[in-house]
Amino acid sequence: MICLGIEGTAEKTGVGIVDSDGNILSLVGKQLFPEKGGIHPREAAEHHAKWIPKLISDACDKAKLGLDEIDLVSFSKGPGLGPGLRTTATAARSLSLSINKPIIGVNHCIGHIEIGKLDTSANDPVSLYVSGGNSQIIAYEYGRYRVFGETLDIAIGNALDQFGRETGLGHPGGPVVEKLAKNGSYIDLPYTVKGMDLSFSGLMSAAIRKYKEGIEIEDICYSFQETAFSMLVEVTERALSHTKKDEVLLCGGVAANKRLREMLDDMAEDHFAKFYMPKMEYCGDNGAMIAWLGILMNKSYGPDKIGETNVIQRFRTDEVDAPWVKQSKS
Ligand code: ATP
Ligand code: FE2
Repeated sequence: MICLGIEGTAEKTGVGIVDSDGNILSLVGKQLFPEKGGIHPREAAEHHAKWIPKLISDACDKAKLGLDEIDLVSFSKGPGLGPGLRTTATAARSLSLSINKPIIGVNHCIGHIEIGKLDTSANDPVSLYVSGGNSQIIAYEYGRYRVFGETLDIAIGNALDQFGRETGLGHPGGPVVEKLAKNGSYIDLPYTVKGMDLSFSGLMSAAIRKYKEGIEIEDICYSFQETAFSMLVEVTERALSHTKKDEVLLCGGVAANKRLREMLDDMAEDHFAKFYMPKMEYCGDNGAMIAWLGILMNKSYGPDKIGETNVIQRFRTDEVDAPWVKQSKS
């Protein structure tokens, strides 16, 4: 079984081809870099419409496969920006109908975790998924991936990006903040964990305020990272203690940050848990994660009916029954 997956939840268009043994046969993508400001949903959709056909043909060329050798088409059903999701689903439907092969829509967040497990030897981890659009602490319990904690407002990546734009550091903010943080020292910023959930908007506004007050940018960047990452690690640690799992997986674009990795790795070690992170090409949004989850779900359920391939903008991780997952202990 060979699956071609199409990803288009945000500003990256991705196509990947994966077989049922988990071999990633090809992975191609094209990112939209807005000239100024953040991502505009319509522009992201136009970007997908422009690139999906070329990326499908590039992915097949790289995998040395003809379209007739694809057995299944999968696509990201949500969560994400509506126009981009609809464009991606339309492309997947057209491909499925034109090659006369089945189609399946999958949850983007679960895709991140499954490709993370495939690319590392993690088996049943507590996962920290941190990106521009998502911040969730997820673990498998009783038949589904459960959300143990999540942001109540904006995602950590979005907070870093907005901070970057407001302070003239440019977009995306995350990598620049990481660089500047190396020479900073600590100043007080709001630390907001509510129960098991997180809030980053107050922290971001306070950081922008400090910048306008003339505080050194390096100090703000250092403190932004230390505060936000401690919040994320705290909730991940509590989920780890609660579930008694012994693996921690970091995924999503913010996983590029070395300080976050170090803090999470230290916490895992304190709990005698192993820390895992997939290669960066599988951390950010990509088509291979959509293809691989398509394979796993198709094995459990079979494909979707073409009339049921609607998108779900607020598709929650814990809405999906996941019988393909093997839990190590409960
Ligand atoms: P999703 O659709 O899953 O929300 P996304 O569109 O945000 O994904 P990703 O590639 O997963 O795309 O993540 C991009 C985010 O990662 C941006 O917010 C960016 O600032 C952040 N990022 C990238 N590198 C770093 C870094 N070194 N430190 C912190 N954040 C980073
Ligand atoms: Fe993502």
